[in-house]
Amino acid sequence: MKKPNLNMIIGASGLVGSAMDWCSKERGHKTMGTRLQERASEIEPLDVTERTRVMKRIRDLEPDNIFFCAGSNDIEWMESHPDESYAVNVLGLKNVIDAAARVNARLVFISSAYIFDGSAGPYAESDTPNPGCVFGWHKLLGEHLIATSDLEHLIIRTSNVFGWDRLNKNPVLEVIQLLKNERTVSLPEDIVETPIYSRALADAVFDLVESGEKGVYNIAGNEAVSLYRFGKNIATVFGLETSHIKPVKARNMKTKARRPRNACLTNKKARKVIATTLSSTQVGLKQMLKDEL
Ligand SMILES: NC(=O)c1ccc[n+]([C@@H]2O[C@H](COP(=O)([O-])OP(=O)(O)OC[C@H]3O[C@@H](n4cnc5c(N)ncnc54)[C@H](OP(=O)(O)O)[C@@H]3O)[C@@H](O)[C@H]2O)c1
Repeated sequence: MKKPNLNMIIGASGLVGSAMDWCSKERGHKTMGTRLQERASEIEPLDVTERTRVMKRIRDLEPDNIFFCAGSNDIEWMESHPDESYAVNVLGLKNVIDAAARVNARLVFISSAYIFDGSAGPYAESDTPNPGCVFGWHKLLGEHLIATSDLEHLIIRTSNVFGWDRLNKNPVLEVIQLLKNERTVSLPEDIVETPIYSRALADAVFDLVESGEKGVYNIAGNEAVSLYRFGKNIATVFGLETSHIKPVKARNMKTKARRPRNACLTNKKARKVIATTLSSTQVGLKQMLKDEL
């Protein structure tokens, strides 16, 4: 008798991983999540940089699908901590690839629009990457490791994921907090992205997984917005003061990492396969608000 599918979500305490964990359970799959250090969590600890433990845990578990949602999304921190970024995004990923190969698991990897330099967005899956920051380079290296392995895999490129997360550290929650404290929020009007609600991302990824798709897929929101406009949308949907959102030019923001000016992704390829609707930021934010209640 064939055993039921088991999904292993690495990084299940994070923004993206917790949405994958939610979706996997919603769709009735057997699900096992891991985290690094989030203390209050019931989730099992597993550090992807510890090769021996990773090999043993995956060998014992024999998952059918492994979702690699580990690592930071703090671009600025990674720019000044390239070794730490490499340890998780490249070496940690390599450990998981090797372990997955031994049990013949399929790997689902969450990559980023930051593998592009942002000079010619929106980007399709076939466009040529040219990262401008440490994070982008490490994500691209990760993609290369997977693509040159024998693993059955899905590489999901996404950008600017938002949603509820236990540590309240994604940009939307930060903006909400600042506005609640009546603080001014300055956001670049010349950086354009395609933000996506975390649960919509997870649903779309599971559509691809369940239909046996392979290779590279963009999954992003269906609307290109400047980060300034996105901030205004957040304020409107959450009933907060929109006048506290102020436009700035990217060049005036003192950042180390070079952020792509246009990190938008096109969903054309995915839309032919998935049932999930990829919507505008307003619709995604309204869904997020609804999901809290
Ligand atoms: N958020 C986005 O907009 C976005 C866009 C494109 C790609 N991605 C990618 O999606 C992945 C998840 O991003 P996120 O926004 O969900 O980040 P996040 O909220 O910071 O979550 C990161 C997750 O990884 C875990 N983790 C960190 N270091 C680890 C390690 N050494 N070994 C095992 N687990 C580790 C964390 O565990 P603890 O909670 O215990 O620390 C947490 O579960 C990252 O690879 C990121 O590059 C995110």
